[in-house]
Amino acid sequence: MTQPRVDGDKSAVTCPVRDFNYTDYKPAGTWFGIYDKFAEESPIYRNEFGPGFFTAVTYEGILEILQHPETFSNSVVTPLDPDPQVKWIPEMLDGAEHAQWRRQLAPLFAPKTTEKLEEKMRHRAGELIDDILAKNTGKCDLIADFAQRFPTTIFLELMGLPVDELDQFTEWEDAIMHSTIADMEERNRVAGATMMAVMGRFSTIIAERRVTPQDDIISKALEFRIDGEPVSDADLLSFCLLMFMAGLDTVSVTLGWSFYHLANHPEDRAEIIVNPDLIPSAVEEFLRAFAIIVPARKVVTDTVVQGCPMKAGDMINFPLSAANRDEAAFHEAAKVDIYRTGNNHVAFGAGPHRCLGSHLARRELRIALEEWHKRIPNYRITPGTELVETGAQIGLTSLPLEWDPA
Ligand code: HEM
Repeated sequence: MTQPRVDGDKSAVTCPVRDFNYTDYKPAGTWFGIYDKFAEESPIYRNEFGPGFFTAVTYEGILEILQHPETFSNSVVTPLDPDPQVKWIPEMLDGAEHAQWRRQLAPLFAPKTTEKLEEKMRHRAGELIDDILAKNTGKCDLIADFAQRFPTTIFLELMGLPVDELDQFTEWEDAIMHSTIADMEERNRVAGATMMAVMGRFSTIIAERRVTPQDDIISKALEFRIDGEPVSDADLLSFCLLMFMAGLDTVSVTLGWSFYHLANHPEDRAEIIVNPDLIPSAVEEFLRAFAIIVPARKVVTDTVVQGCPMKAGDMINFPLSAANRDEAAFHEAAKVDIYRTGNNHVAFGAGPHRCLGSHLARRELRIALEEWHKRIPNYRITPGTELVETGAQIGLTSLPLEWDPA
């Protein structure tokens, strides 16, 4: 760590300064817990990497930022791009405009609404697992064969898209979120082209729903009013794109980590098989211990957070895994304890942008674990597997599992 500096152009920094290229970092184990050593020193540090930005690494500090939207704007998604050309809705909106979207979207994601999807979800999860079993090989890639396909089918249902587009959407998701193309320029080019294809598909749906509305989220969003005006096609497209980015990969990546833990901890697996009522608490603990999102904000007025002064225009990001692994907030924070109570984690964020899909996500995770363990209770990670983490949300690219065929 270098000495605290005073930067004439930017903020008078009184917190530690580092140069941490997190985009290229290869942890010895998993990503979770890597910020512990930074947090021991200070709740916030200044990163000199890229354009320079702050990073908050404690529960208290992260909560303070999440709960002060008047100081920390959501107009950005990464600290590396302070002036993005995109405006994903509602994630990148602030203030009254954001509140209007949230008010109208809330009923579509309320617990009662997601409850109605229970049977459909259970059926889809069962179908996918039965397909795996029908191959009779006693093995699968949990990520490709289940964890990506399950949330994608639910997403297609919600958006009113035919389920036979599953392969196409899974392929798009992979190309955007988990590209393994080594060359950064080529990777960005392919991701950009794929994003255009996704937008093309959504544009067609929006046009179709304008003519013939159905019982799906896009048709309902066509009736929204913002400042008394109907929503434009461009804004609807930004909303669909955000749903695609927020709703698919998050659940599949969390499922990947949940199965990673359960495969490595047969004692926890045995507990949830004997007592499936434990699954909701296990899900909360997996969300806490494997929090995958690293939100970013742009400072809009000069402020001091946890003793660290920041100026309007400064950027800040905060790995939610750092909050969830903070010993000051969670007893034995590094331990995955499926019996944990009072689990006040922030895997879904907090404040006005708290995850809109949290009820849906929880239900998907619970049903996936229930249906899987009814059919395939005993499994292991294929010996010799080298696990690779990639992606906008840090996830396993593949998780080969095997079991003894019945
Ligand atoms: C395990 C799964 C999920 C996790 C961990 C997760 C996490 C998050 C987090 C941390 C945020 C807040 C970001 C911020 O403060 O900037 C967020 C926002 C959001 N999430 Fe999720 N999410 C998950 C699943 C879903 C699903 C399934 C959907 C919908 C299908 C969804 C839709 C959204 C939307 C629309 C927002 C933006 C809310 C707003 O800006 O007001 N999420 N999510």
